[in-house]
Amino acid sequence: MAKITVSLIKADIGGWPGHSTVHPALIEEAKKLLKRYVDEGILIDYHVTHVGDDLELIMTHRKGVDNERIHAIAWDTFEKATKVAKDLKLYGAGQDLLAEAFSGNVRGMGPGVAEMEFTERKSEPIIAFMMDKTEPGSFNLPIYRIFADPFNTAGLVIDPSMHGGFVFEIWDIYEHKRVFLSAPEEMYDILALIGAKGKYVIKRVYPKPGGKLPEDEPVACISTEKLYEIAGEYVGKDDPVALVRAQSGLPALGEVLEPFAFPHLVSGWMRGSHNGPLMPVSVEDARCTRFDGPPRVVALGFQLADGRLIGPVDLFADPAFDMTRMKAQEIADYIRRHGPFEPHRLPLADMEYTTLPGVLEKLKDRFEKLRER
Ligand code: F6R
Ligand code: MG
Ligand code: MG
Repeated sequence: MAKITVSLIKADIGGWPGHSTVHPALIEEAKKLLKRYVDEGILIDYHVTHVGDDLELIMTHRKGVDNERIHAIAWDTFEKATKVAKDLKLYGAGQDLLAEAFSGNVRGMGPGVAEMEFTERKSEPIIAFMMDKTEPGSFNLPIYRIFADPFNTAGLVIDPSMHGGFVFEIWDIYEHKRVFLSAPEEMYDILALIGAKGKYVIKRVYPKPGGKLPEDEPVACISTEKLYEIAGEYVGKDDPVALVRAQSGLPALGEVLEPFAFPHLVSGWMRGSHNGPLMPVSVEDARCTRFDGPPRVVALGFQLADGRLIGPVDLFADPAFDMTRMKAQEIADYIRRHGPFEPHRLPLADMEYTTLPGVLEKLKDRFEKLRER
């Protein structure tokens, strides 16, 4: 039997209202289209959801990653849903469909992609994480903690099949280079890179050779598309997604969720230009309101059954994350009071919007030379 592929492909094709959430008509349209591909036998299964203003397509099939047919299906779905968005005059309708026409692969055309091909185990729990109002590097901290931090993942210490650690594939998203680093041996090197979360992002995690799982089949994958880079100008956030497999030689479901109990600071809030806490929420609460946020993350859990998606279970719809949400709101309140000051507002180089060149131009004749004393 061919391996299974899970493809999570997302795009912001219109917000309702503003950049807050996705109109149900877009979700219905996407479901209708994807169902057709299941009936035709191209997809095995699908689930359509949203976080904030991003439409999320979770699809399973046996065609491998970067498959032209699958990517065309996603592109076509976004295009058709954009028509619905335009008809309803939703905000920023079609904003992430940056290319004029589909040309073989949605990567580099606007949508974000996390895809993994692997041999489905006897029992295969998988979690789809989806974030809004932030950037791919926001996954660095939680993914590192899941697969390399023994204070998060007890299994790294006490499960013999995980004790060897994992391999991290890290991308430099500006220089377009990658490096494979091994944890725990190279932990400090890994941290030296991924702490700079705007430049270095974890792309995939692999099991170590000689373990229970094949070393060439990823156990986690994160979308790394940077809209800012693709478009050359600000067109929206990168709002990343990730897939993480769990249990039986991998971090347990609860170890995968545990890092999200800490609402770490991420960038991308309001106008892509502010830092704020990442708040874990249910799909029902995945609506970006306060100051267009705060940045949110949703986690949907599935069991795979020969590619069928048995689920979803809305994993953050749980009082166990109430304290995290309270903490996130406390942090939001605290950091908001900085208004236009750093570190709430991002440093100049990282801002998606800036009026500074205009301000400098206006003031250029009023700047005087300092006479040093
Ligand atoms: C978009 C986002 C928002 C917008 C803001 C301004 O995902 O994060 O915070 O940047 O609402 O949007 P415009 O410039 O479209 O009015
Ligand atoms: Mg938007
Ligand atoms: Mg968004």
